[in-house]
Amino acid sequence: MDMSSLILYFSGTGNTEYVAGYLQRKLASLSVDAHLASIEHLKPEQTQDFDLLIIGFPIYAGAPPQFFKQYLDTLPKVRQKGLFVFCTKAMFTGQAIADVCEGLSGKGYVPIDYLQVGMPGSDALPFMSKESKYVQKALHKNYETMEEINEFAQKIAAAVNSIKQGKRVDSLRGKVSKGLPVLNALFQGIWDFGYGFAEKKIKPNFQANDQCVHCLQCVKQCPAKNISIINGKISFADRCYMCMRCINQCPQEAIQIGKRTLHKFRWKGPRGDFKPH
Ligand SMILES: Cc1cc2nc3c(=O)[nH]c(=O)nc-3n(C[C@H](O)[C@H](O)[C@H](O)COP(=O)(O)O)c2cc1C
Ligand code: SF4
Ligand code: SF4
Repeated sequence: MDMSSLILYFSGTGNTEYVAGYLQRKLASLSVDAHLASIEHLKPEQTQDFDLLIIGFPIYAGAPPQFFKQYLDTLPKVRQKGLFVFCTKAMFTGQAIADVCEGLSGKGYVPIDYLQVGMPGSDALPFMSKESKYVQKALHKNYETMEEINEFAQKIAAAVNSIKQGKRVDSLRGKVSKGLPVLNALFQGIWDFGYGFAEKKIKPNFQANDQCVHCLQCVKQCPAKNISIINGKISFADRCYMCMRCINQCPQEAIQIGKRTLHKFRWKGPRGDFKPH
């Protein structure tokens, strides 16, 4: 039996795209061909063309990004298709993996395994000085060999082979560790409070300064279609996902969040070449 696999992801600043691409290359080396697509370019119904779904997303406020969940909610129902889930994070993932697995189980997917990959924090980087320890660590980390992704790829390849041979593959359903409930709820509460506060400070304060050359790259790249040009000036509406793409990608470093991002670092993914299509 032939099996087609899809790696479906969202990436604001390049981390998740890097992991998705790395995983695709590793799977290819294990003789598993996987199609790679961002949710920005694949209609939910197109996922039906694949037998196995591997999804990846960045963690926002200890959860999957809301717009990512909304996309998953629109996926068509399936009959017992395998599911692998990965996220990229700076620190705390809360119940994100369990949430996504539960949601997609309801659609007929069978969660098989998951992975959390530690990456530089896209929320913090544009506020940091270029010389700071955190930035230097992010720049000099070894992204070429990521053992945890190699192992994940091996698990996926093993599952693909089992399914091809008609063998049973164990489901992860209900087995994703939720940690200690009280501690988790406490942590999530603190996290939600912190991000709620940050959101109020960040979202309304995006602006393009006079370094802007009106190239319109930010308008084209914003996944929320939140940026437009009004009376010759770059303008931000109120639909921002806080993905941090615009501020990191602007070729003029013209986009700022208030004054605290002036002359600070801009992150273009682990290889320094992230270009959302
Ligand atoms: C709005 C926002 C909220 C975030 N919240 C968390 C969080 O709660 N926990 C965490 O570990 N990382 C958090 N991060 C960091 C990202 O999950 C991490 O940097 C991720 O790798 C970014 O992936 P991307 O480059 O594909 O967008 C947050 C980033 C953003 C932009
Ligand atoms: S990407 Fe930067 S330079 Fe280009 S239009 Fe947007 S703010 Fe201006
Ligand atoms: S305006 Fe918001 S959603 Fe759009 S690219 Fe910038 S941070 Fe992302």
